[in-house]
Amino acid sequence: MSNLQKQRVLEVHHWTDTLFSFKATRDPSFRFQNGQFTMMGLEVDGRPLLRAYSLVSANHEENLEFFSIKVANGPLTSRLQHLKVGDEILVGRKPVGTLLLDNLLPGKTLYLLSTGTGLAPFLGVIKDPEVYDRFERIVLVHGCRFVAELAYQDLITKELPENEYFGDIVREKLVYYPTVTREEYRNTGRITALIRSGKLFSDIGQAPFDPEFDRVMLCGSPAMLKDIHQILDEQKFVEGSSSSPGHYVIEKAFAEQ
Ligand code: A2P
Repeated sequence: MSNLQKQRVLEVHHWTDTLFSFKATRDPSFRFQNGQFTMMGLEVDGRPLLRAYSLVSANHEENLEFFSIKVANGPLTSRLQHLKVGDEILVGRKPVGTLLLDNLLPGKTLYLLSTGTGLAPFLGVIKDPEVYDRFERIVLVHGCRFVAELAYQDLITKELPENEYFGDIVREKLVYYPTVTREEYRNTGRITALIRSGKLFSDIGQAPFDPEFDRVMLCGSPAMLKDIHQILDEQKFVEGSSSSPGHYVIEKAFAEQ
């Protein structure tokens, strides 16, 4: 298990019956880029049981944070959801991922489009002062079935705008657009429908997607990724990678079957 680091749980927060998050210690040698994911899990019967998890914590933070679904019969999350302060977790030493600022060409507006736990990597991204240097506006869209699943609203709408170092720039540049599909709320409908109808853009005072100015990061379910991928393709957006930065980047949100 030399590629794994043992860390201790510091805090656990249950958002709903199906969503929770927790903070853990961070080894000083553990380095990552905001937006990346790493393998994380538990030792079960003497062996590591791991899944890919995005880092909610930014790389300048002292501790690690993860956001997870709870699946009753999921091999890992059925156990992970019972984590208590002081418990031990395993964290992979080699974070990876495509949701990186460096994989995008320069642009004016950065859209972070997420559903469910796909929000996780974007919490690292919006805590990164660099993102505010590179873009004029950062639009974080989070789509969920129910209002209670819109996790981290306090962080996004209060803590970050009040951050002593970059709160000013967050207030100026970060736009948060939560939307739900299965109950009444101030914004409703799937992200795809909101893009196609133009409602997302009119609600936030932006022009529709344009590869000249807009950059997009996507993280969500395979179905959501496929549908937005198609929309971006139609608009002539080109996918970026570390070897060739582009107009958008994609990553699948964690899902345990
Ligand atoms: P809906 O309630 O209409 O299925 P899930 O929990 O299933 O991952 O869904 C999270 C959110 O993503 C829900 O609001 C869901 O809407 C929405 N969603 C599901 N499939 C798609 C898709 N293909 N494109 C956009 N949004 C989607």
